[in-house]
Amino acid sequence: MKIQAVRGMQDLLPRQKEIFRFIEDTVRDVLGSYGYQEVGLPVIESTNLFKRLVGEDTDIVEKEMYTFDDRNQESLTLRPEGTAGCVRMAQENGLTYNQVQRLWYAGPMFRYERPQKGRYRQFEQIGAECFGMPGPDIDAELMLLTHRIFTALGVAGDLGLEINSLGGAESRVAYRAALTSYLSGVATELDEDSLRRLETNPLRIFDSKVARTQSALEGAPLLQDFLDDESIAHFDGLRRTLDSRQVPYRVNPRIVRGLDYYNRTVFEWVTDTLGAQGTVCGGGRYDGLVEQIGGKPTPGVGFALGLDRIALMLEDKFESRHQADVYIASAGDKARAYALDVAEGVRDGFASLRVIVDCGAGKFKAQLKKADASGASLALIIGEDEVAGGQVTIKHLREDREQQSINTDELGQFLADYLSKE
Ligand code: HAM
Repeated sequence: MKIQAVRGMQDLLPRQKEIFRFIEDTVRDVLGSYGYQEVGLPVIESTNLFKRLVGEDTDIVEKEMYTFDDRNQESLTLRPEGTAGCVRMAQENGLTYNQVQRLWYAGPMFRYERPQKGRYRQFEQIGAECFGMPGPDIDAELMLLTHRIFTALGVAGDLGLEINSLGGAESRVAYRAALTSYLSGVATELDEDSLRRLETNPLRIFDSKVARTQSALEGAPLLQDFLDDESIAHFDGLRRTLDSRQVPYRVNPRIVRGLDYYNRTVFEWVTDTLGAQGTVCGGGRYDGLVEQIGGKPTPGVGFALGLDRIALMLEDKFESRHQADVYIASAGDKARAYALDVAEGVRDGFASLRVIVDCGAGKFKAQLKKADASGASLALIIGEDEVAGGQVTIKHLREDREQQSINTDELGQFLADYLSKE
């Protein structure tokens, strides 16, 4: 039987991985420029962590987690997202109490979702979580930071920022009551999932994709009208900063986010270039989370970027780097050994050059074809004559120039001159 990759798990081929690496490097640089510090988090956590922090009634916990018992019958879960683990780590290691933290992490997340373009069962996130800052300035900072990331990646023009406020716990209680009462009146219009959520988590009904349910929601009360004064002031503060920095955004009252932990600010960066999976970044404030895991009340806010989706946006415009700068072709046993020596010498002197030694057994012609395909601009040719004379022959692959033979001990000087003219 043929063994294939597990459904929803992506292989990243060299070009794709290069795009992911470019995104990671860019994001890392921008996060560094805002003083964020990287942390490493386990991929596996106790199942209860997600039940408690992400919420029992969310899609993620209800039906998307990779959960299993280990050999000790402890229920463990492959992390579906990074915030819960980061909050646990910060609390467990004493990073939250009376402190300010700006942290970030990167790595794979796992959700048992229906796979399609831009939606996978293993996907990469880079997330940032900030602790100890209650004001709207840090919320704004996260939006400026993500905006800077998208500008550096060259995708800002295809993305829009959408923001909303979910208010404080009290405004949500009042809103929930009003929403439940409204939806009970149109219960016959709701799909089965939404009917169940009417009891457990009515706000999540906004996430329903069922057209009938969506039209029943049209006359529903809006959370905006139930916001407490402090949350309104917080949201106004955020908007003022975005306005003064001229970051375009849209207030979208329908953003409720699929995780239970948010309060006040929530935001998403969305594109219409990716079809249904258009959200490339989501985040918000979660002031109750540290306390929920047993810590002192500590404000928190963060976001996560989906690398797979950003990579799809870059696919057509990203220019891959050449595989090689210098390609070494050789024929005959002695020449092959000599080629390896020459290559090591080049690498000693020029660490940033990419040097490939043809380790196949092909003829020179075939090797030079591969040299061409590698993108190299120079081929070094080593045959029996070169070995005997202590020389290498240099062929310019991208320029119309005569082939030349030089002594191997002059190769360093040749390359230095060559590179300085490039
Ligand atoms: P989230 O909205 O669930 O938020 O995920 C963040 C991003 O991860 C999404 O915008 C999307 O780009 C990407 N993503 C999610 N699921 C998939 C999937 N199945 N395949 C590909 N990409 C996916 C969170 O995870 C929160 N922890 C964000 C956060 C951090 N909030 C506060 N701090």
